[in-house]
Amino acid sequence: MRRYGVYTKSDGFSFFCQNVSMFDMKLSQRIKNTPESPIRKLEPAARSAKARGIKIYHLNIGQPDIKTPNQMVSWLKKTNIHHLAYTESQGNRQLIKSIVKYYHQLGAKDITEDNVIITAGGSEAIQWCFFSICEIGDEVMVFEPFYTNVEGYARMADVKLVPVTCKIENGFHLPSNQVIKSKITKKTKAVYLSNPNNPTGTYYSPSEVKRLYQLCLKNNLYLIVDEVYRDFIYQKVKLSTALNFEKKSQKGRMIIVDSFSKRYSLCGIRVGFMVSRNKELIQNVLKFGQARLAVGDLDQQIAGRMDQVPPDYLKKVKKEYQERREVIYQGLKKIPGAVFTKPEGAFYYVTKLPVGDADKFCEWLLTSFHHNQETVMLAPANGFYLSKGKGKEEVRIAYVIKKSGLRKAMVMLKLAVEKWNRE
Ligand SMILES: Cc1ncc(COP(=O)(O)O)c(C=O)c1O
Repeated sequence: MRRYGVYTKSDGFSFFCQNVSMFDMKLSQRIKNTPESPIRKLEPAARSAKARGIKIYHLNIGQPDIKTPNQMVSWLKKTNIHHLAYTESQGNRQLIKSIVKYYHQLGAKDITEDNVIITAGGSEAIQWCFFSICEIGDEVMVFEPFYTNVEGYARMADVKLVPVTCKIENGFHLPSNQVIKSKITKKTKAVYLSNPNNPTGTYYSPSEVKRLYQLCLKNNLYLIVDEVYRDFIYQKVKLSTALNFEKKSQKGRMIIVDSFSKRYSLCGIRVGFMVSRNKELIQNVLKFGQARLAVGDLDQQIAGRMDQVPPDYLKKVKKEYQERREVIYQGLKKIPGAVFTKPEGAFYYVTKLPVGDADKFCEWLLTSFHHNQETVMLAPANGFYLSKGKGKEEVRIAYVIKKSGLRKAMVMLKLAVEKWNRE
């Protein structure tokens, strides 16, 4: 018989865990199938680089350094909180009302409180989409390279993701209907689209999204549009939502995933939401909400200050990202053999680098390369693809640090590519 000790004595939970010996602890196939985050897998190498005294420019993760609006956090210093309670499972009522108002401003004027549910980040919203509309073994279409955690959510729900490959040469825009249709099977339940896209920064135009939605309607599929980067589009377009493409007669085939993480640089509060005209869906999803009780009360109170953030905040943030995007663009132009287009949104680039194997290159940047005790950390892009062998030479660059740092990082990247190819 084996002995398992999940926690050690020093954790203070030893009474519970030290003698779990009655059964052989097996892990589920589900958890075994769930992939490690490709964005975080280089963290041990980064930690050991830091331990060697090397400064790392982190362009690998979508956590912006932008300041959270003052209106959302400064009141915390003054407030005298005595009790933090469960909120309604659907979410803090005031926050839901603010979200409804916000969606009216986006043009979806018929949205009411019954169309919204607060989730623990956009992450939970995506999970709940899968849990609520798919049976075990059903398929959801994604456009690769795609937001890699979606694969984890699919695995948790026993859903199979079916990739449609987009190409770097046309800025990863959607392929023809014929290509998309060829991937629809009897098991397909939904299409997931992140717009603007993580990891590519592609902004799919209204005509692309409408085309996809028509295709979904014809094939009786849901369209899940993840708009967590909605505010960061660098073309002259009116702030909007894909919900505006849904006619009232088509009620309920579209689900919007939304979040506070990127919009207000609030990754740490874990508040997102789901919006759909399909009230039956929202009512049923509420059962998941009830089962996990509520999203953090304080987190929702912070998000609920959204009405008080002046529009100027997002204008400035967008300008900052636009300038950062330009710094990366100029830096990449100096790397012979790099293939890229200037993305229209979010804060990412997927770029092909002349390095053969980007996975190894990204690791080498942390283990074996430095320039004046500094290096750069990138996310290898193969982890954003499901099709084997795709994205082998590609990396994702997140412009989430200041321009001065980005400039240095891009100089370093050029030197690194040269050195890698010399060695
Ligand atoms: C496209 C996309 N959707 C959803 C999320 C999840 O964000 P959160 O759970 O922080 O709201 C992310 C995070 O990076 C993302 O890039």
